[in-house]
Amino acid sequence: MWRPGRRPRRLPRQSNSVINWDPLTPESIAPLVRNTIFSGNIQCFQQVESTNSLALAAAARWRQAEPAPEGAVFLAEEQTAGRGRAGHSWYSEPGTGIYCSFLLRPSLSPADALWFSLSAGVAVHDAVHETTGFSPDLRWPNDVLLNEKKFAGILTEMSSEATRMLHAVIGIGINVNQKRFPGELGGLATSLYLESGKEWSRLELTAALVRAVDREIRGLMRATSGPVRTPNLRYEPIIKRVEARSSYALGKAVYVDEDGGYSGVTDGLDPRGFLRVRTDRGLRIVISGGVRPLERGRDAAGS
Ligand code: BTN
Repeated sequence: MWRPGRRPRRLPRQSNSVINWDPLTPESIAPLVRNTIFSGNIQCFQQVESTNSLALAAAARWRQAEPAPEGAVFLAEEQTAGRGRAGHSWYSEPGTGIYCSFLLRPSLSPADALWFSLSAGVAVHDAVHETTGFSPDLRWPNDVLLNEKKFAGILTEMSSEATRMLHAVIGIGINVNQKRFPGELGGLATSLYLESGKEWSRLELTAALVRAVDREIRGLMRATSGPVRTPNLRYEPIIKRVEARSSYALGKAVYVDEDGGYSGVTDGLDPRGFLRVRTDRGLRIVISGGVRPLERGRDAAGS
């Protein structure tokens, strides 16, 4: 959230103050995302603390506004306090990455929030594939990898009552044209540029991402609305979409940094979207993440 006097700077309509060859503006994105639930509701900022914070603040204002839009997108050229999962920060170099948050008002239960993260992972995969031809890997729940290094992440936040989600914010960061990363990030993070040796259009990728998120959210809404004969199969189409894009979902030897740590072999997603891992002590369900490939040569079902 921003404080008075430190308001986020919206991008000027005429982009004579651009900081790169590929500025993201509502005018450049709008024609590429017609007929999505986000059409007409895209805002671009030069510098913000965090697009997720911006979206959460807007959501609070929406609650007083009737009619509020179904969806909105908040984009920034730079974040000064970009947030990641588990209290980490998200490195947000100006003008080289995509930092965006999707604000939605779904009629779902708070327990369904994981589906947003999983669907967003599918959307990032598909947008990157459409724009670059790469097929990134999804590491449950929502890291997006190229050559085992992370180049995109998803942070879903929401406000809810006991049984009803009031709004959800899906924050997505994609490393696009970064040439290097500071400190220890250098060994862990990558960008599309570093993996390909060429720069990519953030505008094309952003537009592809907005269209892909629109598709996935519509699919999710279809899955959650209407009767189903077998409730356990309600989310099956989404599970299949995640599993098809993730080498981590099925048959991967992993170490899980949860409950003191254990290793095993992944066995797909359960009906709630959690990852199943077969260990030598039986089936375990990964609740919050921290899944890593098991070092080669170690016993997969070893602890
Ligand atoms: C993670 O993998 O830890 C999640 C990273 C999410 C980063 C994005 S960048 C846009 C949005 N705004 C934030 O402050 N965080 C998310």
